[in-house]
Amino acid sequence: MKIDYQEPSKDLLMRIDIHEKYGSANIDIWTNDLLKPQAGMKILDVGCGAGKLSFLFNEYTQGGAQITGGDFSEELLDKAREKNRETGTSIDFQFLDFNQPFKFEDNTFDLCTSAFAIYYASDLDFTFGEAHRVLKPGGRLFVSGPLPENKQMFYEIIKEAANATIPPMPGSSRFKGDIFNTIDKIFAKTELHKFENHLTFPEVAPFIDYVRASLGEDRKLWTSMFNGRDEYEALIGKIQAVAQKWFDRDGKLVMTKVVGGILATK
Ligand SMILES: C[S@@+](CC[C@H](N)C(=O)[O-])C[C@H]1O[C@@H](n2cnc3c(N)ncnc32)[C@H](O)[C@@H]1O
Repeated sequence: MKIDYQEPSKDLLMRIDIHEKYGSANIDIWTNDLLKPQAGMKILDVGCGAGKLSFLFNEYTQGGAQITGGDFSEELLDKAREKNRETGTSIDFQFLDFNQPFKFEDNTFDLCTSAFAIYYASDLDFTFGEAHRVLKPGGRLFVSGPLPENKQMFYEIIKEAANATIPPMPGSSRFKGDIFNTIDKIFAKTELHKFENHLTFPEVAPFIDYVRASLGEDRKLWTSMFNGRDEYEALIGKIQAVAQKWFDRDGKLVMTKVVGGILATK
């Protein structure tokens, strides 16, 4: 299954910022507690985007791990390299398309991670096969992504506003099923962990910022719901009206992110 998806940096960074501003829990702490990356490890972060996880591991290991971040978006890789320059770090950010063979030898990495990314892969057996191949024996794979109950309020508001079917999202529709099962089949041991984050919006505007950073035409995930800019703006207007109604009724808008972390050992 070919998934046509792209992540503009402005949308990704907006969503990360909103999670940090309005969330009740910190996904970085959860990730580090779970993985405890160590100095001396070789780490590959697949679909690294602007380098969120790579920088997190670098900080946690005080620069002692050898970290490679790979992504197919040159725009996001440039952001990551810019941050390398700003922070004086030397993480290796390089082009990697997870639908193509990874350009690394067998048994290279101690840890291979992918946050909210690798589940967009076209052929799960192939991509997770590559992750397995480049890991050392005993090496670990960590993949995070949305569980089916993720962001229910977000989808309900959009459904009420659009009066239409929400397109299936490659993450939440496959994470607990196909993705977990594929990893479980390939790896020696697989566990599913869970992280919950309640985002409380004190007004409607930041929720609409989040909606725009999710539904944007460039991401190509929601385009079945509108045709061109005018229809997109009309849909956002309807979502805003429903969100305002919910806000007036409840005095706040709470969206719960329910994230799964698949941790597997080779
Ligand atoms: C939601 S973002 C997550 C980025 C980053 N891991 C983070 O947590 O901030 C998904 C990422 O997957 C990347 N991606 C999508 N398809 C890809 C592919 N075929 N190969 C490599 N990266 C891909 C996108 O460019 C984007 O950076």
